[in-house]
Amino acid sequence: MEKEDVILIGETGLQRKSDVIVIGAGAAGMMAAIGAGKRGRSVVVLDHARAPGEKIRISGGGRCNFTNIHAGPKNFLSANPHFCKSALARFTPADFIAMVDSHGIAWHEKTLGQLFCDESAKDIIRMLLAEMRMADAVLHLGTEISGVEKTEAGFRVSTSEGHCEASSLIVATGGKSIPKMGATGLAYRLAEQFGLAVLETRPGLVPLTLDPGLLESIAPLAGIAAPAEIRHGRTAFREALLFTHRGLSGPAILQISSYWREGDEVVVSIEPDIDIAAHLKTAKQLNGRQSPQTALGDILPKRLAQFLVEREKISGNMADLPDKALLRLAAGVQNWAVKPSGSEGYRTAEVTLGGIDTAALDSRSMETKAVPGLYFIGECVDVTGWLGGYNFQWAWASGFAAGEWA
Ligand code: FDA
Repeated sequence: MEKEDVILIGETGLQRKSDVIVIGAGAAGMMAAIGAGKRGRSVVVLDHARAPGEKIRISGGGRCNFTNIHAGPKNFLSANPHFCKSALARFTPADFIAMVDSHGIAWHEKTLGQLFCDESAKDIIRMLLAEMRMADAVLHLGTEISGVEKTEAGFRVSTSEGHCEASSLIVATGGKSIPKMGATGLAYRLAEQFGLAVLETRPGLVPLTLDPGLLESIAPLAGIAAPAEIRHGRTAFREALLFTHRGLSGPAILQISSYWREGDEVVVSIEPDIDIAAHLKTAKQLNGRQSPQTALGDILPKRLAQFLVEREKISGNMADLPDKALLRLAAGVQNWAVKPSGSEGYRTAEVTLGGIDTAALDSRSMETKAVPGLYFIGECVDVTGWLGGYNFQWAWASGFAAGEWA
């Protein structure tokens, strides 16, 4: 960030008393600070990082996929799929787009309703900081949180810069993904401290790994991408599949990874819009002297075609192959059951599944039912979006909800 963008850092030392303390200056925390500040509440935002919105900065390949125009409850995973409805309905993609437009930030739809900045994800961070400045919210970066206590008047937060107090406390410290970028799991510890249930957490939107034997056989495919449908039970995603040195990745795999559990299989269908069996039969009729690699190579990258033919132990010219062999080859391309050995974990996961049980929260405000004045928002809550701008939309919407009430 440019230096002038973070001037609102508390230069005069930590403000001891305010109406609202927000812990976490990520997407959700900044949104909540803006909302509460605009209502006339005095707001202090604390973050241990040296810059706000670090995940926004690296998101969407540096262009931030800041929302998805199709975002709705169906795009989110949660033990209670109804919980997210209220917040998503009261702060919609159109509301966020209006904010982006009012700051003159150019954007475009890339695919499947995914909106990206034309220039840089930093434009979104600058926008949020400008809005925070207009709302008189004060940001303190580089501030370690050492403890939170409930007091008669609200909450007391002890930090490396001293302590501060407020009647409302909004916890927006995100999930466990990418610890290198400052993820700490503080929200889960605070939830437990206040007696709230935390549902099992696991990495989501993450590449899947393969066991060494399978990995060795697909090693030559590393770097190859193809359109695919990946299925797990009744859930399926049609997007790109990417072979990597560790296993399988690409948007289709990241999407299904949020549904996949250790020990489960996923079913891969490459080029799902093409009838591969029909293509092979036609190829046999038109040119029986070609190899199946060549026939399949009309549709798939050559190395992938060769791998699939060798895997089915098929040899000879197309004319020599009975239809049964062609059908087996087609099934190998479009009905390939793979059992991943694991995932790449929080090191590369885009999000954390599970988290603070929504049963503990009021869905309109994100306030905890048991501890009035205490709010949890964003990724730390058990609401996780698909890949494609949904997770930011949840951060904006849940942040907005808390900002309206805290
Ligand atoms: P977020 O993690 O953004 O913010 C938490 C804040 O709390 C951070 O500033 C952190 O420093 C602070 N914090 C943590 N622990 C603390 C502690 N102990 N003390 C003080 N402060 C603490 N989503 C999407 O919709 N579109 C996209 O393009 C992408 N792209 C993307 C790329 C990559 C590489 C990743 C890892 C993730 C994405 N995502 C995404 C997901 C998206 O980044 C994520 O869902 C939101 O950032 C969650 O917002 P939160 O504000 O909840 O947490």
